[in-house]
Amino acid sequence: MREGTTPLVRREDYTAPSHWIRSVDLSFDLDPAKTLVINRMQVEPNADRPGEALRLDGEDIVLTRVLVNGESISFRNEGGQLVLENLPAEPFALEIRNTCAPEKNLELSGLYTSGGSFFTQCEAQGFRRITYFLDRPDVMALFRVTLRADARAYPVLLSNGNRVDQGKLDHGRHYATWVDPHPKPSYLFALVAGELVCREQRVRSRSGKDHLLQVYVRAGDLDKTEHAMNSLIASVVWDEARFGLSLDLERFMIVAVSDFNMGAMENKGLNIFNTKFVLANPATATDVDYANIEAVVGHEYFHNWTGNRVTCRDWFQLSLKEGLTVYRDQTFSQDMAGEASARAVKRIEDVRQLRQMQFPEDAGPMAHPVRPEQYQAIDNFYTTTVYEKGAEVVRMMATLVGEACFRAGMDLYFQRHDGQAVTCDDYAQAIADANPGSPLATRLDAFKRWYAQAGTPRVSAQGVYSAETGSYTLTLSQQTPATPGQPVKAPFVIPVAMGLLDSDGRPLLLQLQGEADYGGTDRVLVLDQASQTFVFTGLYGLTAAPVPSLLRGFSAPVILEWQADEAALFTQLRHDTDPFNRWEAAQRLAVQRLLSAVRSGQPLQLDAAWLDAQRAVLRDPALDAAFKDLVLTPPSAGYLAEQLAADGVPVDPPRIHAARESLRAQLAQALHDDWVWAFETHQDNGAYRPDPVSSGRRALANLALSHLVLDAARSGDTVWPGKAFQRVKDAGNLTDRQGALIALLHAHHELAEPALARVHAQFKGEALVIDRWFALQAGTPERDGRVFARIKALALHPDYSLRNPNRARSLLATLFVMNPSALHREDAAGYVFWADKVVEVDAFNPQLAARLARGLDRWRTLAEPYRSAAREALIRVSGRADLSPDTREIVTRALQ
Ligand code: PHE
Ligand code: ZN
Repeated sequence: MREGTTPLVRREDYTAPSHWIRSVDLSFDLDPAKTLVINRMQVEPNADRPGEALRLDGEDIVLTRVLVNGESISFRNEGGQLVLENLPAEPFALEIRNTCAPEKNLELSGLYTSGGSFFTQCEAQGFRRITYFLDRPDVMALFRVTLRADARAYPVLLSNGNRVDQGKLDHGRHYATWVDPHPKPSYLFALVAGELVCREQRVRSRSGKDHLLQVYVRAGDLDKTEHAMNSLIASVVWDEARFGLSLDLERFMIVAVSDFNMGAMENKGLNIFNTKFVLANPATATDVDYANIEAVVGHEYFHNWTGNRVTCRDWFQLSLKEGLTVYRDQTFSQDMAGEASARAVKRIEDVRQLRQMQFPEDAGPMAHPVRPEQYQAIDNFYTTTVYEKGAEVVRMMATLVGEACFRAGMDLYFQRHDGQAVTCDDYAQAIADANPGSPLATRLDAFKRWYAQAGTPRVSAQGVYSAETGSYTLTLSQQTPATPGQPVKAPFVIPVAMGLLDSDGRPLLLQLQGEADYGGTDRVLVLDQASQTFVFTGLYGLTAAPVPSLLRGFSAPVILEWQADEAALFTQLRHDTDPFNRWEAAQRLAVQRLLSAVRSGQPLQLDAAWLDAQRAVLRDPALDAAFKDLVLTPPSAGYLAEQLAADGVPVDPPRIHAARESLRAQLAQALHDDWVWAFETHQDNGAYRPDPVSSGRRALANLALSHLVLDAARSGDTVWPGKAFQRVKDAGNLTDRQGALIALLHAHHELAEPALARVHAQFKGEALVIDRWFALQAGTPERDGRVFARIKALALHPDYSLRNPNRARSLLATLFVMNPSALHREDAAGYVFWADKVVEVDAFNPQLAARLARGLDRWRTLAEPYRSAAREALIRVSGRADLSPDTREIVTRALQ
């Protein structure tokens, strides 16, 4: 596997397969050490490519026999593929027998064991680790699967579709046969065998069909499945109501597994989930976990149509299913949140995530288009660009055609492509064709640059008001920086949702030059040139220039460069009718202050105007607690670093950290009484409920507590740290327990130690809480090197392990991705640790290692001595001869 160089796969090289596999009958004799697979396929030569050899993919499996129409034939192995020549020109039966070793499979791709049960993970190319196949998404087959296993150890035997048979066998074994009525690509195959229990629920769909929903977990976890089940039911109902898409199976199963590389997987009718996105009760899951479970259950369920019924022609089209399905799960979560203000909170959270993760990716060495042009390891392209930016591309289409008409586009997409493996072009075409004359349809080719060009566009805005002519002239320009392999960019089609406010914050009626009438107070401008001017007229009698509210709801994934004066930002923060831009104004006000301190090297000195505005938000009775929490949370260190990098200023992580810490300390002191008020007025004593209102209240109370404990360090107060410690001991839910623990940890209070010890003792048996216990320590803002020292010690803790991806990430991803303050050290010890762990993990789980390796992507933006030291660590890793193709691709690109 690891010899030589891995070839580059290019999108332009796509060709249809030489053969189609129409059906497959799989039989498994499950044994952890050696599982026997019999794979009987009905194969049909592709009429367009007569006489071609059949090249089947296979990896880390042992072939024992090949039969064509029942006769053995000669074959050879070439480049990891099984090559069969001189095959019949007519459809034929192909039988393959092979074995694999599930218990040795630590990559967690293909068939593996976890906690004594069997699971599979086939996307993107895991099926070839189970048996020989045309392991590509455009080959869709009907699957029939028989599982045989020891009845005592593996009482539950599951695969896709419906169970058509089951029974006993000799020697204490039993079997089950499953048939999936829908043709599917191999990446959607799944099997599960083990000692599992399930919660089940029957539902009737709108169309009157009955379905059985099941959530399978380990025996002790049944009391943690209610929320996942409720989320699944809500997903079924929502997809029918919102998109007219019904469940097309009699049975829909979710299975939780604790060893899993990713979040979850949409195998047809048999979703397999990381336990983290299934298991929840108030004691073991936080509000954020509850929200994530709802989103991920929705996401995987929505794939049943967007991904499974209509699938991808090739892996370059990954965003066809992922971008669209993220857009659908984001919309689902917004609808579940309910009111407009709660929807806006969800949108702000999604944008914050996009900026924090995707923008840096798009500015760094791994920058790639939403539809990439080439890859070495496809697993490296399950990225935030394909997922989250891909979702923004779908959202822009919806904005350009209008929400209601977007549904017509989706309908046409399914009408045209149900049962097919298609491309991003097919998708965009369907949305446009259903909406002729829309700004999407008239600019479709230019719009599709969003699929082809990488990089985050920078949109600059300039406004000139003339009181005399009553006009406001808005000039919008765009420019996209070069990215690897793409030196020049053509203009994007950018929907700019906007409004104008007067200086008191009242929305103004908008009328563009040449229009007969006012068109409301909100509109969408379409920027599709390098620079364009929009003239608003009829704006008489204003005492000052209007304040533009641009990119409302974050209507496009761009960086808006607008040199707003402070007064305008304060006006927006107080009055903008668009909650997203209210939050955005607050962010800008904070960013400006933090960055000027970082750039000048002067201590941050917060002004009364800013502090008063923060206080006003905190005390505003009209605002939701969740929204207040978002406004009062300072921009992350990573986001600040990217702002500097964009201006070519070398990033000095400790300096950014110092400015942020100073901001928190001043906010804690200046608003002390307000934080007390916020904490005391946001306590709920009823039963725990994870809804947006209650979780927003908890978030704000916890933010208040963290400021109060932080300020205690300055004032010498012991009351608030004592309260926090008490809360760690007897909080009624994990959100509050964690909030109190974070307050102590982030203040570096001496009570943090005993608090950690208590939590560990209390939750010893709860793997997901222990993951969090590690992650909270790894995510603590650095002070005097103590946090990094603790992380290194924790890596040797008896409960720590690299084998389990969640546990591995709890320390490592938290340090490498989320905690720049601890990672970047003058002595380079953080980078040495990074290199050691990447190499160690790469030896058995390349996918996980490659993800961790991305922690140093942005090394080029660093100031010295960090930059050179990080580079050295990258060189050290890339110098290893035995690196996996996955990790090799990441470090090579980072160094290019
Ligand atoms: N397709 C999965 C999802 O987004 C993600 C995934 C990819 C899981 C590859 C496992 C392996 O829902
Ligand atoms: Zn997905």
